[in-house]
Amino acid sequence: MVKLETKYLGLTLRNPLIVSSSGLADSADKIKKIEDYGAGAVVLKSIFEEQINYQAGVLSKGADYPEASDYISYYTKTHSLDNYLKLIHTAKESTDIPVIPSINCVSADDWINFAKNIESAGADALEVNVFFLPLDKSSKPANSEKLYFELVERLRKTLSIPFAIKLGQRFTNLFYIIDQLYNRGTNGVVLFNRFFEPDIDINVMNITPSAVFSSPDEKRNVLRWIAMSSALNEKISISASTGVHSGDDIVKYLLAGADTVQACSVLYDKGIEYLKEMLGDLEKWMEWKNFENLDQFRAMLNYKNFGDARKYERAQFMKYFSAYE
Ligand SMILES: Cc1cc2nc3c(=O)[nH]c(=O)nc-3n(C[C@H](O)[C@H](O)[C@H](O)COP(=O)(O)O)c2cc1C
Repeated sequence: MVKLETKYLGLTLRNPLIVSSSGLADSADKIKKIEDYGAGAVVLKSIFEEQINYQAGVLSKGADYPEASDYISYYTKTHSLDNYLKLIHTAKESTDIPVIPSINCVSADDWINFAKNIESAGADALEVNVFFLPLDKSSKPANSEKLYFELVERLRKTLSIPFAIKLGQRFTNLFYIIDQLYNRGTNGVVLFNRFFEPDIDINVMNITPSAVFSSPDEKRNVLRWIAMSSALNEKISISASTGVHSGDDIVKYLLAGADTVQACSVLYDKGIEYLKEMLGDLEKWMEWKNFENLDQFRAMLNYKNFGDARKYERAQFMKYFSAYE
């Protein structure tokens, strides 16, 4: 019998498979089902900084765009902050797995106080989904990076529970960012968030959303960063997000050094029931390879432990695949 127990953000999880933040986890019933089908933990659908600021009166005079204002007021009415806190409370009462609420934010503002309410509602940890889109071409990258660091410092002063920062993929030096986040008190990073990507419809000449859901192929780029981060920043917890579509994908991310993996798109496609199949396949693989627990193979193929680590450094096709004509 294999053991799937693992540590993430200092919490003990019965297994490394987490249902990631989305509409899959926005009600107590759904969260119960997530537990029943075996997930190790659940991240709730994000509450947005705009909602928090709006309720705090910051945006009550209207947002910059009428659409934004409409959206915010509609969203705030239907998803009040109180409801979010109630959801945490109910989820904690009705399940035994760790419940991780999520805040989506772009600045270290009033919502920090709301993070304290999340803690008081019984959350086991917090996930903070951060994204800045710098539009000022005279602003140096370090200015944007500083915003992440300030945010983390304020969060650490405010919270007693652990928290993870969910990052996007685009940093000049990801390992520096992770190191700085850790030094300032971040317990973990989620690599990576998958952002809305615009496409252009050439028939109607308009901007349209591209694929909302991921494909398994998208995992490959993330694997490199997990394998390198887990070697270069050994103390911080790492959760892999993007492209987890099967039990094999869980194995790959664990071999690359992740502590946990998060699944979203595949569960929209195949249903929450599919959690059980993915976990069963992870167990089968471990039995086949004679591993009794995750620590026996976690990070076995990361940048530090894999014999030919330069494979993770390879980037230029020209250099390595010049035989292709
Ligand atoms: C419909 C949908 C809703 C999502 N909502 C959120 C959200 O509220 N907060 C968040 O941090 N990520 C959200 N995400 C991103 C997922 O949590 C996840 O990081 C991303 O989809 C990549 O994982 P996947 O390849 O397993 O889908 C959402 C994704 C989808 C498809």
